[in-house]
Amino acid sequence: MSKPAARVADLRRRIEAANHRYYVLDDPAIPDAEYDALMRELEGLEAEHPDLASDDSPTRTVGSRPEGGFNEVRHAIPMLSLANAFEDPNGGDDDRLRYREVAEFERRIEDRLDTRAPRFSVEPKLDGLAISLRYEDGVFVQGATRGDGATGEDVTANLRQVRSVPLRLRADDALQVPAVLEVRGEIYMPRKDFEAWNAQALARNEKLLANPRNGAAGSLRQLDPAVTRRRPLAFFAYGVGEVTGLELPQTHSDTLALLRRFGFPVAPEVDTATGFDGLIAYYRRIGGVRDDLPYDIDGVVYKLDRYDQQRTLGFVSRAPRWALAHKYPAQEQATVLRAIEIQIGRTGAATPVARLEPVQVAGVTVTNATLHNADQIARLDVREGDTVIVRRAGDVIPEIVRVVEDRRPDGTTAWTMPATCPVCGSELVREEGAAAFRCTGGLTCGAQRKEAVRHFASRRAMDIEGLGEKQADALVEYGFVDSIADLYALDVADLVRMKAALDAPTAADLLQMVDDSRGALVLDDDTRTALAQEPPEWRRADFLRTHLQVAPEGGRVAVKWAENLLAGIDASRRTTLPRFLFALGIPHLGETTARTLAQWLGSLDFVRATPALVLQALPDIGAEVARSIATFFEQPGNVAVVDALLAAGIAFEDEGRPDPGLHARLGLAQVLSSLGVNKLGGKSAERLAQTYGDLDALLKANASGWTGAGLSTAGADNLQAWLDDGDARARLVAAWEATRRLLDAAPARARTAAGPLDGQTVVLTGTLSAMTREEATERLEALGAKATGSVSKKTTFLVAGEAAGSKLAKAEALGIDIWDEAKLVAFLDAQA
Ligand code: IVH
Repeated sequence: MSKPAARVADLRRRIEAANHRYYVLDDPAIPDAEYDALMRELEGLEAEHPDLASDDSPTRTVGSRPEGGFNEVRHAIPMLSLANAFEDPNGGDDDRLRYREVAEFERRIEDRLDTRAPRFSVEPKLDGLAISLRYEDGVFVQGATRGDGATGEDVTANLRQVRSVPLRLRADDALQVPAVLEVRGEIYMPRKDFEAWNAQALARNEKLLANPRNGAAGSLRQLDPAVTRRRPLAFFAYGVGEVTGLELPQTHSDTLALLRRFGFPVAPEVDTATGFDGLIAYYRRIGGVRDDLPYDIDGVVYKLDRYDQQRTLGFVSRAPRWALAHKYPAQEQATVLRAIEIQIGRTGAATPVARLEPVQVAGVTVTNATLHNADQIARLDVREGDTVIVRRAGDVIPEIVRVVEDRRPDGTTAWTMPATCPVCGSELVREEGAAAFRCTGGLTCGAQRKEAVRHFASRRAMDIEGLGEKQADALVEYGFVDSIADLYALDVADLVRMKAALDAPTAADLLQMVDDSRGALVLDDDTRTALAQEPPEWRRADFLRTHLQVAPEGGRVAVKWAENLLAGIDASRRTTLPRFLFALGIPHLGETTARTLAQWLGSLDFVRATPALVLQALPDIGAEVARSIATFFEQPGNVAVVDALLAAGIAFEDEGRPDPGLHARLGLAQVLSSLGVNKLGGKSAERLAQTYGDLDALLKANASGWTGAGLSTAGADNLQAWLDDGDARARLVAAWEATRRLLDAAPARARTAAGPLDGQTVVLTGTLSAMTREEATERLEALGAKATGSVSKKTTFLVAGEAAGSKLAKAEALGIDIWDEAKLVAFLDAQA
């Protein structure tokens, strides 16, 4: 085979494969720009070597034959394609060179018609899916895809679900509906709907749509119209096919106006223009608003407006000579993914970022792209070394939409989220039910340092007067402060240096500041010379500490300011435990949770040492919050910072012992039921706790022993399985030990000297929601009541919770005072 013949064969094979992936599978393999390049090379070769041309070449056919699923529709008038023109980036400033193909198109038309500057209909080139809608006597009867141009797929049922496809033509007195009208146009997915769709898919961990066009094509080719209905699709008309029983206007632009009257949406950007300059002006105007349009376009289309002129020009193979698609630079390009790196946000969120071989996408060099999250990487199976398709549309951050699998090099491996933070080495954990991973090294992680200092100093946290966000950021950025503990090591001189660096836009300004300070700030001569060169490190703490001396004589504004801030920092040393806990910036630990922890556990030592399983037993602390708190205090970096804060003299005015109420809340039964073991709920946990009394004894027994103690067989098996899993046993033992320590430290609830309920006998029945029955009993007893288990004439009142049964009935029969939970809570609150 000759060399060109081999190349032609190769090109046809590749184009046909790409057509199949694009049109039949809705799963494009190569970027559009690459497809266009292959096609143009083939067209060029066939023009040069007419002997190689053939009727079944992809240059003569359009798209791909339909395949399965839908019935075939033969188009009465073929659905053609458009010749493409691209921008020549080397064409310089001369439009006729830069847009040479447009100039040639327009010149050819002028020559054939022997007119100057003919008029064109100019339209956006919507990036969707071409369809034909057939109306008979005004009623929508059939809708078809383009298919190979001659035969398409019958997607009538799906098109009926698209709201902007009229099911009936509109008619009025002056407008009769024709016998047959075929309307051609584009089905597309509005960009906003596409983004919303993907945002939702991301949150639900579902497959993302690669781009709006794929979204439209995939949605229209759903076999179930109900699925299509849920997809946000829209339609714009841009032409007609078969028409009978209607005299069409003389021009294409009038036809579009007529279609509007029949009820079809036509893109509002559609216009007319004359001559080459008019075409290019339109191309530029639409290019300028491209990113702001509510739909994706990949170019503009020029169509000779007068039908008689169109007829004079006719067709070549698959495209009319009177029309041209003028394409914008592609929004998708292929490039190689060098690496996937983890970026830690200021609140610790870990986002994977793709580092790319630089590539031009829609006029911008792209080197990074977002990969959203670990799930998205798994879904796309993106690997380092892969060739990927990068998409950049509008001002959206470039993203990777798919992998070109055919180009995957050997030896790649599936990507997994690293276990530790690349910035600080703390654990990365995934929050329950969330897609995002988070760094747990809040206090030491460089990425989170600014945020940590800002939050620590803020009014509701440590409330350090004078330390606003700007100052906090500067302290961290210049290196005066690495962690919040370093705040307490600052001195007046440091703060003056920081303020000087913050207030001086350049090193020269700092020099000026020193000169104006009348001796309060001092620089040696060598440093003066060095500063004149604007060395990049002049704002750094170590540089300033070495070279900028601060004379402590009072009076200077900066010194006064620093002294005040230092006094603010100093004052923050005496604080409360809830403030401090909140100030640490532990994820999910708000002010309310901070107060709960302080109230129930009493001291920082207990907060730090209490495992998640036990924290969960405190009011309003769920599993996720408990885990977040415990994980925070497990990170060595965080531990070191907290210790350093204590060493710097942080003290709490409100530390005390754990709350006496813990006795009613915490015990073996609570710990067991918080394990989340299926079939080991509150009741059976209670029975186990009563039988064994201690965890040790319970663990020495086995499943059959537990069943003897009142656990179901399934519950016993589940507990056994739970204990056999990894470090579960150790965690349970730790939880129980922590519980014991807490209970040992918590005083029994003191009897009120003279209790308001002295001498009264109460009975509790039913389920309470605000507290356990044990807790209620304990609180009533603390007020002097005697709690008994059965109702008698001696009972003073009965507390009836939800689903109270026989005891309530008996109390009613005896005429005993009955309290509901609301009354109990109000009473207890009034006594507190
Ligand atoms: S006219 C004979 N007008 O571009 C002319 N096509 O490659 C037939 N397209 O299949 C097409 N916007 O999917 C025309 N305003 C527009 C268009 C448009 C988008 C698409 C259409 C067609 C392809 C041509």
